[in-house]
Amino acid sequence: MTTPRILPAAAWADTVAADLAERLRANPALRVCLPTGATPVPVYEALVGLARRDEVSFARATVVLLDEWLGLPPGDPARCDTRLRAQLLDRLPVPPAAVHLIDVDAADLDVAVARHAAVAADLDLVVLGLGMNGHVGFNEPGSFADSPTRIIRLAASSREAAMARYGAASVPTGGITLGMDRILAAREVWLLVTGARKAAILRRALRDPEGPDCPASYLRRHPNLGVIVDLEAAALLS
Ligand code: GLP
Repeated sequence: MTTPRILPAAAWADTVAADLAERLRANPALRVCLPTGATPVPVYEALVGLARRDEVSFARATVVLLDEWLGLPPGDPARCDTRLRAQLLDRLPVPPAAVHLIDVDAADLDVAVARHAAVAADLDLVVLGLGMNGHVGFNEPGSFADSPTRIIRLAASSREAAMARYGAASVPTGGITLGMDRILAAREVWLLVTGARKAAILRRALRDPEGPDCPASYLRRHPNLGVIVDLEAAALLS
């Protein structure tokens, strides 16, 4: 049974950031895949603080983006690359060549997908949020443990959650996501979950039989999975 690390909300982000700093100290050339969404925002804020105090460095790391919307123009504030840059990358000394975003502006999206699958073939760590419908990245319900990096049509529930998150009247219907195969092939995976609204889906992901209705449930197959949650998200785990 997967045993989550349960932390008080006030300590959660600093703890996750300190753990990531520790991984970077142990392996300065860490190849890490990072998510966007609301969950990691305080972690990124804490990381920027650590970097300003020279307690963490991304100078030799490689950063790979987890997923991206299709159909938003470059620089759109809802784009995952815009958000990861604003919240973390532009606030740290990270060599641009070591940042691998998803080229959703490419003329040939199949090439963009293949490139992203290639850069993500050798990841030390994948950090994930948890969707309200059990998705990880944009691996929506219906995804399997071997689902590849691909273009995906987004679930209505994911689009509604994103509209609420961004206060937007509409969000795209498609995206590109790192595949479940690449996530499960990484040397380490962290699932980050906070807040009472995620308690039921976290319980589903960790305690009920694994299955494609909740792609996050496949993470339990990973031999080196860390589930780092706050007390509110853990409320239904026993
Ligand atoms: C989004 C993203 C995921 C993110 C998840 C959870 O739709 N595609 O990468 O991890 O949903 O988002 P949040 O942290 O805002 O709940």
